[in-house]
Amino acid sequence: MTILFKVFLCLILIFCGGSLVNCTEFEVGRRDGWIVPKSKDDDQMYNHWASENRFKVNDTLLFKYKKDSVMEVTAEEYEKCKASHPLFFSNNGDTVFKFDRSGLFYFISGVSGHCDRGQKMIIKVLDIEATPPPQSADETAQKPHKSGVAEMTPMGIITTLTIFVMSTLCLIFV
Ligand SMILES: *[C@@H]1O[C@H](CO)[C@@H](O)[C@H](O)[C@H]1NC(C)=O
Repeated sequence: MTILFKVFLCLILIFCGGSLVNCTEFEVGRRDGWIVPKSKDDDQMYNHWASENRFKVNDTLLFKYKKDSVMEVTAEEYEKCKASHPLFFSNNGDTVFKFDRSGLFYFISGVSGHCDRGQKMIIKVLDIEATPPPQSADETAQKPHKSGVAEMTPMGIITTLTIFVMSTLCLIFV
């Protein structure tokens, strides 16, 4: 491996560690992305996936799909699998949705019939206080230590340690 490659690898590691501080992007679903569940027994597959994750304010969801769409709807519309005026709509195949508040969010596919077959999801966004102020990705990548210093929460301390260990490991390997 060339030195350059190692430096590159380090930057990626540090960046990933640093991004834990602020917010997380969740790719919806498992390998297949946002699709109609393949079997009828899977009609809760997205809710199962959601229950395995912890979402907080400012985290984002990434929906990947082909020839489909994502709608954020009300609880009532979710139950009916139908929405004429969704709160949010996107069909660009690569939808990023940001949680701007805590509480419940309801998502369904906008394609007729897909929601009925289980392409729907309820997300609970937790109300966790004391998250650090947002930073640009550049700052996070370049000054991981500095971003950690202001942290007071246990989560922040863990993240700082993670970044520190990652940076140290990187220095040793380079
Ligand atoms: C979310 O981001 C906004 C704007 O970037 C910021 O004002 C707000 O404090 C953040 N909220 C949390 C809980 O991190």
